[in-house]
Parts: sequence; C-alpha cells; structure tokens
Amino acid sequence: FGKPVLRGLKVVVSAGPTYEDIDPVRFIGNRSSGRMGFAVAEAAAQAGAEVTLVAGPVSLATPQGVGRRVDVRSAAQMRDAVVDATAGADIYIAAAAVGDYRPAQVADHKLKKHDGAALELSLAENPDILATLAAQTVRPFLVGFAAETHDVERYARDKLKRKGLDMIAANQVGGGLGFEAADNALTLYGPEGAIELPRASKTELAHQLVARIAERYQAVRG
Ligand code: PMT
Repeated sequence: FGKPVLRGLKVVVSAGPTYEDIDPVRFIGNRSSGRMGFAVAEAAAQAGAEVTLVAGPVSLATPQGVGRRVDVRSAAQMRDAVVDATAGADIYIAAAAVGDYRPAQVADHKLKKHDGAALELSLAENPDILATLAAQTVRPFLVGFAAETHDVERYARDKLKRKGLDMIAANQVGGGLGFEAADNALTLYGPEGAIELPRASKTELAHQLVARIAERYQAVRG
C-alpha cells in the first residue's frame, strides 16, 4: 500500500459504539461494530504512525502495529481517554459512533415493570469529543466521520463547519453499508472540496482515507 506517509506522527483513532447505562443490566447503545475505526487504526500503523486506538465496547482483536489500545464504555469515558491520548498527538480520527445522550440518572438496582405503566427515561446530552478538541488552542489535525441515513452532504458539511474540523468522512447508512457491514463508501469533505471513495471493503477504504489525510496534513502542517 505505498510508502509510509505518516512516519514519526502520533495518531489517535476512536472506534466502536458507546454504551450508556440505564441500570446494572441495561444500556443504550448503537450498532457500530468498530470495524471501520479498527481498519483505520491498522492502516495508520502501516503508514508508519504511532497509533493509539480508543475503543468502545467491541469484540475485535487489536490490529497489528497498533501501539496502544484503551478500552472504554461510555461517551464520558471516551472523551476522557481521547483528551488524554491526544495531548501531544498530531492527528485525531474520530470513527466512533458516540452516543449523543445518556440516561440522566443511572438506577443502582434493576428497574422493575409496573402493571403496564409506561416507563419514562430522561436523557442528558453527552459531551461532544470533537468539539472539545476543536476548542483547544493547540489541537491535532481533526478528522470526523458523519453517518447519515439521508441528506449526507448537507449534514456532513454542517458538521465540518460547526465542529471546526479539518476533514470529514461521510457515509450513507443502509443498503449493506456503514454500521456493522464489511463494506463502506465514503465522501471526504474539506476546505478544498469533495473526494469520492467508492464502495470497497473497510480495509481498502481505510488505506485510501489514510493516504488522503496524510496528503492534507502535509499540505497544512508539514
Ligand atoms: O463501526 P462500524 O460498524 O464499522 O461502522 C462504522 C461507522 C458507520 C460507525 C463509522 O464509519 C462512522 O460513520 N462513525 C461516525 C458515526 C456517527 O454517527 O457520527 P455522528 O454523526 O454522530 O458524529 C459525527 C462525528 O462527531 C463523529 O466523528 C463522531 O465520532 C463525533 N462525535 C459525535 C458525538 C459526540 N458526542 N462526540 C463526538 O466526537
């Protein structure tokens, strides 16, 4: 897959879902398997980077070449791990599907049913990890992902701007692509326009994405 283009750079990748506990046995989660982020971590390592992988709850082995893996469960734990790992890092690639909300209160006992009465859960907003990093004065080159079921380009461009990112990789969810699937298709948006990475395995796409990130990183920070 070409010559090492990230040699000497520290890269942090987040992957997988977050789980937000409701009670000791239940949680709110999402369908992210971690495959896309793990493939990106592996491709970055093969490109010569020193890689830290911050992983939500997934059942995947650490890819070869990845120097450090930090396992987390909730969005708050992922935020803490990412902030810690990105101190002094050059690039952060956010492939994780971070839960936007968590139960406002975590019950300390298993919730019981009550004679057909509806159960209401109150949800509090989670911290936005990318926005936290974007607000720092010294910040790594920031690459976000956007997974959407519709209006992919509009939402992706909005996130690029609103979250203050250097690049965003957008994927349409559904039709055998995106969450859980072996394949994906990405469109990269940055200040210089859009680049299509057509349907391919997540491994192949990860290599193409890392090559584009390296190019852009060298152009603005190299
Ligand atoms: O894990 P797989 O099964 O392989 O699936 C891959 C994937 C579809 C999960 C991945 O390719 C992907 O698109 N990940 C982002 C999923 C998403 O829904 O992102 P978002 O639109 O909620 O968030 C946009 C960006 O902000 C993401 O980079 C996300 O990591 C980041 N974010 C979101 C919320 C939050 N509180 N903090 C964040 O940093």
